[in-house]
Order: sequence, then structure tokens, then C-alpha cells
Amino acid sequence: MSPFQLTRILPEDATGAALRADVRTGLTGTPKTLPPKWFYDAHGSALFEKITELHEYYPTRAEREILHARADRIAAASGARTLVELGSGSSEKTGRLLDALPGLDSYVPVDVSASALEDAGRALAVERPGLTVHALIADFTRGLTLPPTPGPRLVAFLGGTVGNLLPTERASFLRSVRHLLEPGDMLLLGTDLVKAESELVAAYDDAAGVTAEFNKNVLAVINRELRADFDPQGFTHIARWNPDREWIEMRLRAQRAHTVHIQELGLDVEFAAGEEVRTEVSAKFREERVRVELSAAGFRPAHWWTDERGRFALSLSGV
Ligand code: AVJ
Repeated sequence: MSPFQLTRILPEDATGAALRADVRTGLTGTPKTLPPKWFYDAHGSALFEKITELHEYYPTRAEREILHARADRIAAASGARTLVELGSGSSEKTGRLLDALPGLDSYVPVDVSASALEDAGRALAVERPGLTVHALIADFTRGLTLPPTPGPRLVAFLGGTVGNLLPTERASFLRSVRHLLEPGDMLLLGTDLVKAESELVAAYDDAAGVTAEFNKNVLAVINRELRADFDPQGFTHIARWNPDREWIEMRLRAQRAHTVHIQELGLDVEFAAGEEVRTEVSAKFREERVRVELSAAGFRPAHWWTDERGRFALSLSGV
């Protein structure tokens, strides 16, 4: 078995403090919002895994198709000795890349979920003797520092999760990733692409209702963590395409007027009948916009690959 190390960059209560701040800010503002990162407790993560298997939800399969077709090219172009994966979750996508990178010395999965990192990291350390797994419990949108593993590094941010960041957040995130990198390092970025509205909406409002359950799970998380009394079934799941911003918005709509009490915050939140909380933005991209945003952050876009049907893209950039 090879070395496995887990480092906590986030202080123990960082998650609780961030959740309290986000919920207070988001539910006292107009319109009401909640950041999507709070979907992913154990139940929410399991629901997301189920979403990736739905026939309406194409991004995971489209990205996997590209990774399988291009892993050797990515490996050759990067020559990486360290693979850093931001938002690694279950590390499911990474297998193909790990296989393709012959000189790989270290794998650095980064996630806010300690349990996901433990499970995935330990399994990998057993399966891949010779690979050092240095897992980081960290919020990659805030000041990340990387362990001193050998370069060149390949930083992978897959799944289209970059689309969950609002444009200004995205710009500062990309700049902060750029500052982590040195000449010779590369960024592999997964971005979902603009396509027909019907296909996009179906992907975020599946017939079986799994995405609806995933969306409502954020209320269950707040109930448990902040001792609130949301009735998730009193809200309706909404997925809308915003053609001006080119993003999908998920919302939760209160079916009737009511007040929710959040004990940990000493806060009462009033909902009007039909009032909506925006719970996620998932931006969809065009090649030009990805190139412009990467360049603005100081990257040099080098490769752009899509799946056969042009639904999703992986881009590889130098610095
Ligand atoms: C995991 C952020 C890529 O935005 O498509 C799936 C999350 N939300 N269905 C996405 C999600 C609703 C997903 N990401």
C-alpha cells in the first residue's frame, strides 16, 4: 500500500460557520438565494450520483467520453507528475487519467467532504501502489495552497462545476488557480456547453424527480445543521433556462405563505405564496467565452475537445 495523507486546511468549524453565514445572507436578501455547495451532505452526494445515471443528465457521460478518447493526449501534453483534482468527490472520473499518466507520482484530491476524501483516497492508495495520495480538506474557492509534490502539475476541475460560480466568482477563482501554478503546469477544465433549451431543462428537471429531491435536500441540510423547520415538501422544484446569462437556474418555490424558524440563527424567514429561492446557477458555455475567461485569468488555452455530439467540452491550458 502506498502513502495516504489527509490534511485539513479548513478549520473544524469552518463548514458550520460558512453555512450559517451563507444561510443568513441568502435568506434575508431579495431575491432569496442559497449557494449550491450545501446540497452535498451524504444524502445529497448520493442523490447527485443517481442524477449522473439519469438518461436526461448527459454531462457526466459526455465528459467521460471525452476523457476516454483524450486521456493519452492530455497525459502527453501535460507530462504531469502530480494530478490535483478540485472537487474530487468520489474520484470516479479520475481513474482514466491516472491510468494514462505514466510518470505520475502524486494525486492530490481536494474537497470539502472529508468522508468522500477518506473513502476515495484510501481505495486509490491500495489500488495504485507507488502513487502518493495527499488528500486536502479545503474549500477550493478560498485561498488554497498545494502540498510540495513534484511538478509538473496538472490541475483538473471536472464535471462542469465551474458553471456553479457566478461570473465574478469564476474570474477570481480562475485567477487564484492560476496563482497556484508554475511554468509547465496545466489546467484541465470541464465546461458544459450551450444547447437546445429543452435538452438543458430536461437535464435539470428529470421525469423521475431525482433532481427535485436533490434540490429540496438543501432544506433538509439546513433543518439538521441549523435546527430549522423547513417542510421540503411545501416547496416545488423549478429548473429554468436564462437565455441572457446562458445559465440554468434551479429554484425552490414556496407553495403557500409561511414562516420558517431557524433556531441556530435566531431567525424567522417569511415566504410569500409562490416566492422562489434560487439554489443553483449552472452556466453553459461557448468555446469563445471559455477562451476569453481563461486568457483573462492568465492561462494559455492549448486544446479544446468535445464529445461527438458537442454537448460538453474539456479544455487544456498552460500558464
Ligand atoms: C455537479 C455542479 C456539475 O451543475 O450540473 C446536477 C450539479 N445540479 N443537477 C451541475 C447538478 C443539478 C452539477 N454539478
